[in-house]
Amino acid sequence: MSRFKRIDSIVEAVGNTPLVRLRSIERDHPGVKIYLKLEYVNPGGSVKDRPALQMMRDAIADGRLTKDKTLVDATSGNTGVAYSMFGACLGYKVALVMPSNVSQARKNITQAFGTELIYSDPMEGSDGAIRHVRELITKFPDKYFYSDQYSNPSNPGAHYLGTGREILEQVGDEITHFVAGLGTSGTMMGTTRRLREHSRKVLCVAAEPAEALHGLEGLKHMGSSIIPKIYDATLPDEIMPVPTESGWDMADRISRDEGLHVGHSTGANVWAATELAKRVKEGCIVTIACDRGDRYFAPMRWEKQYEW
Ligand SMILES: Cc1ncc(COP(=O)(O)O)c(C=O)c1O
Repeated sequence: MSRFKRIDSIVEAVGNTPLVRLRSIERDHPGVKIYLKLEYVNPGGSVKDRPALQMMRDAIADGRLTKDKTLVDATSGNTGVAYSMFGACLGYKVALVMPSNVSQARKNITQAFGTELIYSDPMEGSDGAIRHVRELITKFPDKYFYSDQYSNPSNPGAHYLGTGREILEQVGDEITHFVAGLGTSGTMMGTTRRLREHSRKVLCVAAEPAEALHGLEGLKHMGSSIIPKIYDATLPDEIMPVPTESGWDMADRISRDEGLHVGHSTGANVWAATELAKRVKEGCIVTIACDRGDRYFAPMRWEKQYEW
């Protein structure tokens, strides 16, 4: 389907992302094809557009989200951008709970859509933001719809309905392996469930930061985090630990050698794919480009005018 169709609303631009072959990186692994699904082509610039839209649509459909309520969730990253964009487009109020030390750029992007920001303790990271939002909805149960991306089945549901289906349409029978990093685990859970319905076994591998304190934004070290309710540890065939340095170095290489400027979680996914490629003589590995590298540039001050 052409992405350059005429659309009535930005929500229609979500999904149907391209799958690109990593021809340069593949050269180190003769006999193995590696494909990257470019989720940054989604209108909010990340893989999180799919679950954010699905969670909103499902909640609107069954009356949990109404125009007199405010959608609230704990996120400083891509899900927050997606909620904010769709909230503005569909006419729903959005509030995000995030640690106060997240970058000014993150605050500016979401606020540009009219989103309310609520700050949690900077020392407690993303788990602190989750605890803060839980307190908030206990205090004001009628004010908010708590979307809760970590527990909401519509999150993996979006990847079951979209990402997994599209991958099968794009590579079909050729696929032997799928790799995705674990954040909320929605991408891994939903896509894997869809791929498991394929007639032949597709080996599904979860990439996880090797260290508790890591620099792979968007990914969670499960052993030291609040475990998402939607995460089923028995679903992946394998969990591959990825060192921060390996993810960062691979992200740099993907930019230089493939012409794709990606974020560090994408680097982690592709690094895990190359580790798999070393083990198999033949195969077709599909993984995910979660977002673009420019989301991680040092923030530029923006106050109506650019300050250089
Ligand atoms: C940049 C990035 N990479 C990876 C992920 C992980 O995706 P998921 O939450 O589906 O596990 C996220 C999720 O927030 C993300 O923002």
